[in-house]
Amino acid sequence: MHIVVARSENLRGIVTVPGAKNSVLKLMAATLLAPGRYRLTNVPDIADVDTMCELLSAMGVSSTRVGTHELVLEHSGDIVPVAPFELVDRIRASINVLGPLLARFGRANIAMPGGDDFGSRPIDLHVMGLEKMGATFDLDRDGVRATASDLHGAHVELPFPSVGATENILMAAVLARGVTTIDNAAREPEIGDLCSMLVDMGAKISGIGSDQLEITGISPDELRAVDHAVVSDRVQAATYIAAVAVARGDVVVAGARAEHMEMLVTRFSEMGVDITPVEGGLRVVSTRRLTSIDFSTLPYPGIATDYKPLLVGMLAVAEGVGVATENLYPGRFRYVDELVKLGANVRIEGHHAIVRGVDTLVGAPVSAPDIRAGAALVVAGLAAEGETVISNVHHIDRGYDDLVGRLAALGADVSRR
Ligand code: EPU
Repeated sequence: MHIVVARSENLRGIVTVPGAKNSVLKLMAATLLAPGRYRLTNVPDIADVDTMCELLSAMGVSSTRVGTHELVLEHSGDIVPVAPFELVDRIRASINVLGPLLARFGRANIAMPGGDDFGSRPIDLHVMGLEKMGATFDLDRDGVRATASDLHGAHVELPFPSVGATENILMAAVLARGVTTIDNAAREPEIGDLCSMLVDMGAKISGIGSDQLEITGISPDELRAVDHAVVSDRVQAATYIAAVAVARGDVVVAGARAEHMEMLVTRFSEMGVDITPVEGGLRVVSTRRLTSIDFSTLPYPGIATDYKPLLVGMLAVAEGVGVATENLYPGRFRYVDELVKLGANVRIEGHHAIVRGVDTLVGAPVSAPDIRAGAALVVAGLAAEGETVISNVHHIDRGYDDLVGRLAALGADVSRR
């Protein structure tokens, strides 16, 4: 299966942004904290959700999809706290079961997490925080075996605001004895979404949305299953904005939350895209060639590393020279070789990509190296003469809910073959 894109102009209509992958996977992990029946709505129809369902099912939480965007999860209380390699290897978010398992069952046995391959992705910060809370770890090449007979509150200061470490420490703290504070916590909207579901379940959390979370542990019987609507996906929203930016047009991105992507909206505007809030979303108008900018990736509220391939794709056809600096994943420039196959003029120097805009790209066979880079190749294909044929689209399917159908509905010349 390939995604085939041809040059497209003047996208029009309304596209609805689905729920966020990087929220729903954590909300699903949180169901390990308390037995009962959970109903998640606005669930994206993506492969990673299916993998997480399999992982939870292997541990004893069953799941049923209701329609395309609803998921019912049943935690019966009978849990095996072991996450097998063949499932963990497929998604990085499988490490998110660590905190809930330790908190609820006092032990966890997890193979080493996989996910996108853009360099080393250690879990030392997860381990450091949970050790401070009384957990003990036995780590080797096969995975993580952790135990905690008396998980207790602690003051955890993260040297870097890791998304995954914040989430694991947070979920463990919900049932730990006493108060846990997390300083320099990650502040991504998806963490706010997780906090909001945990609070509905009965957790006591303050400082939500800030870089300092305070969690007062409660007893397991105070926690209950809930219904929750997944926050909309800011990276998918950004993808549709980028598509309009390069192909030009006038599109309403319904469900896009300006307050979750302020910095990005500012940078897109500097490039010449006109973005205005409308009822329930953002209206995106692009009428002229983009202007280059320089940008750096940073933890939230900075420009997310997940937006970077989209921005580099936009710079590839913009007027002037732009420098993209990657501060999170040193290896996350692999897709640049693919953009170059489309005629982009990009040079890598250390953790910078120097992008000299060209008038037009030219379609070619390319391969999706990971989720976000794959989507960026689809977007770049909209600005390329001839056909861009993207292989390895299973990466895109991990995180994008019908990218092709949604773009085609806006008038883009894109299909799966
Ligand atoms: N890091 C450490 N030690 C740790 C944890 C992280 O050194 O214990 C380093 C990582 O190696 C990396 C950086 O810190 O260089 C960022 O890691 P973080 O823990 O913040 O990210 P994550 O939880 O592994 C999530 C998203 C990623 C997204 C990053 C950054 C999920 C499932 N994944 O990963 O999303 O890029 O935050 O925003 O939530 C994607 O969706 O395509 C994706 C890769």
